[in-house]
Amino acid sequence: MYEHDVIVVGAGGAGLRAAIAAHEEGADVALVTKLHPVRSHTGAAEGGINAALREGDDWELHAYDTMKGSDYLGDAPAIETLCQDSPKETIQLEHWGMAFSREDDGRVSQRPFGGLSFARTTYAGAETGHHLLHTMYEQVVKRGIQVYDEWYVTNLAVTNQDDPAERDCHGVVGYDIKSGNVEGFVARDGVILTTGGLGQVFDHTTNAVANTGDGAAMAYRAGVPLEDMEFIQFHPTTLPSTGVLISEGVRGEGGILYNSEGERFMFEHGYANNEGELASRDVVARAELTEVNNGRGINDEYVHLDMRHLGEERIMDRLENILHLAEDFEGVNALEEPMPVKPGQHYAMGGIETDENGHTCIDGLYAAGECACVSVHGSNRLGGNALPELIVFGARAGRHAAGTDLGEPEITTGKTDDTEMGDVDTPVEPGAVASDDDGAVADGGATLADPTQTVEAALEAERNRVETLLEKDDGIQQAELRAKLQKAMTANVNVFRNEDGLKQALRDIREVREEYQDVYVNDPSRTFNTDLIHTIEMRNLIDLAEAITLGALARDEFRGAHWRQENQNRRDDVWLKHTLLSWEDGTPQLWYKPTILEGENKTYEPKERSY
Ligand code: FUM
Repeated sequence: MYEHDVIVVGAGGAGLRAAIAAHEEGADVALVTKLHPVRSHTGAAEGGINAALREGDDWELHAYDTMKGSDYLGDAPAIETLCQDSPKETIQLEHWGMAFSREDDGRVSQRPFGGLSFARTTYAGAETGHHLLHTMYEQVVKRGIQVYDEWYVTNLAVTNQDDPAERDCHGVVGYDIKSGNVEGFVARDGVILTTGGLGQVFDHTTNAVANTGDGAAMAYRAGVPLEDMEFIQFHPTTLPSTGVLISEGVRGEGGILYNSEGERFMFEHGYANNEGELASRDVVARAELTEVNNGRGINDEYVHLDMRHLGEERIMDRLENILHLAEDFEGVNALEEPMPVKPGQHYAMGGIETDENGHTCIDGLYAAGECACVSVHGSNRLGGNALPELIVFGARAGRHAAGTDLGEPEITTGKTDDTEMGDVDTPVEPGAVASDDDGAVADGGATLADPTQTVEAALEAERNRVETLLEKDDGIQQAELRAKLQKAMTANVNVFRNEDGLKQALRDIREVREEYQDVYVNDPSRTFNTDLIHTIEMRNLIDLAEAITLGALARDEFRGAHWRQENQNRRDDVWLKHTLLSWEDGTPQLWYKPTILEGENKTYEPKERSY
């Protein structure tokens, strides 16, 4: 058994920033992470960090753009905290030595990004996330923060009182990928989940294979609500054959989208008469697919992104990485030809419900970064707002977990007097198939007075789960289930959604859940058993796919990234509220809480959103 004050699960941007912040407050911190820190998916973030750094810009403009981008589903206290703290966190990165791109006069460069009224996206070429990750990892090493890398955290050690608000998180259980041992980690002060995205729920995604939403799924099953899961971002420019991201920075620098008829469709077909290619991502993604669906796509699949006119010098200076990606993954020389691009899953706006301090409704359990929902992005995230979210809310969660008083949060978590219960007609019964605590579906949870005993109980359950999976020698393999789930989600829970499709997706998810009862691990080895890891991840993907689809089926309106065929309007009279899903006795329970539009100096009035 290992023991630390603060345990951070995941070592991407949010995890590293949380660990540094908690350490600066004097905590004994450990990072426990499935991947080595510099292999985290933050490293794939290309475009940049939105921060109001320049004269003529200010945090209130950034907040307004973010609220508008969210289609008025972001919470003002979270958005304003993001926009107020982003400049100082960005400057902190610069002081730690991050290699930002610069102007000739030495100032850090900023470029335009979609949905921004000011060119405030600070960047390091088209490899901003890579530099951010390496800069913060250096700080972790310098401070001597303990890193347990290639340790896959498979469950939380949470007590199991009936009311989640009375539960405590005392640690985690991790699987050591190198040795195959399963061990417990006691957290004296707090566990911070920073496990990133869930893109593997879909089959065309910019996300890495490791992005299986582990933190969100574990927190959900431990009793923390998942918030606004239906809002999935589809990035407009991904390479068709792999899903590899082509940064919005290309359009920020002046890249143009064309259909098969050579039309600059964003303007010529009136999708965004003012901002064109730099409209918000949801708008551009729908425009591209509409072009394809109307027969103006290329090979009936994609459109073209052209940056040739920017010239080799500018491309090499600001977008060199894009040249390599287009060449390596699509065989296209983007100096001489346009790049094929189509929308692909990129980001989950929803996640683990937290307040502005990263705290969940379970004492001692925090979340930050993409796995969390504070809520900054509402129904649509603006490009360049993910990296500031990591550093701003990672730092806050780290400080708070280490015992720093950050003041009373304005955002509430868990059920309150404002809770409105939801209802949705489903074609199949959602939730767990069986509650065999020793099987692959183990949820854990024990009410024990002593924190160490709670971790020991969770440890025993996880050891049993791993042994059961390894001992079973026939059944169905996770790869088959993963492919089936991804296909179902991409077919029916994509950019364009309708009731029949969402119901079909729920039936397909249910089928996969039932088949998962019979899952087995073909590889019996104890070391580097990726088959075992993917099998454990698979359970998480099922729970999250179901949460996304349930929220999407219930929300019969069109808001941000969530388009519904039956109701192609935003319906503020009914839907100006957050979707919450709680796992109660193995069944998802749907409820809602109001969106907070009252900011520090003003109330944000929902307006028609156009670009
Ligand atoms: O397009 C991009 O470079 C991605 C940026 C982001 O998701 O914020």
